[in-house]
Amino acid sequence: MKNAVVYSSVTGNTRKLADAICDKVGAQYCGKPCDEALEAENVFVGFWATRNSCGEDIKGFIEKLSGKKVFIFGTAGYNNTKEYFDEILNSVKVVVPDSNTIVGAYMCQGKVSDTMKAKIKDMKPEIFEGIKEKLAEGEIHPDENDINGLLAEIERVNL
Ligand SMILES: Cc1cc2nc3c(=O)[nH]c(=O)nc-3n(C[C@H](O)[C@H](O)[C@H](O)COP(=O)(O)O)c2cc1C
Repeated sequence: MKNAVVYSSVTGNTRKLADAICDKVGAQYCGKPCDEALEAENVFVGFWATRNSCGEDIKGFIEKLSGKKVFIFGTAGYNNTKEYFDEILNSVKVVVPDSNTIVGAYMCQGKVSDTMKAKIKDMKPEIFEGIKEKLAEGEIHPDENDINGLLAEIERVNL
């Protein structure tokens, strides 16, 4: 198998990125973490940010990778600066075992669900005040520019 796209997405934001990658590279597998995907030469791993990193399902999958070319992608809701995305991506990159090569990485903002927004507002009102404008900006993401940025990064990597 040449290309596998393995991702986690609860509300569909990361899935938009995953679908665009699948179309672009003609992936033989596109879906949840599974052992079948470990047979691919190139593995695109997608996550949604939680505690400024990826979730345990994706972490567990990444830890099993060996000798692959790995492209990491993700969405995060609370901010949309390069610095913020780099910090999250770096915390995912350190999980990748040394036998692999990280060929590229891309992140963009993803709309935070109304349920999650209500939860933050209720439980951490000060934090909500601080990020509410960013959350509002996030309503329309991932948008076409985000997808184009992702595809450009994949072209640059030229797998
Ligand atoms: C439980 C939970 C925790 C989250 N933690 C973070 C976080 O630490 N940082 C962040 O920027 N966004 C966080 N988010 C927002 C999501 O990462 C963001 O909306 C993402 O685009 C969701 O992707 P999905 O639609 O593929 O599930 C959190 C969302 C949930 C539901």
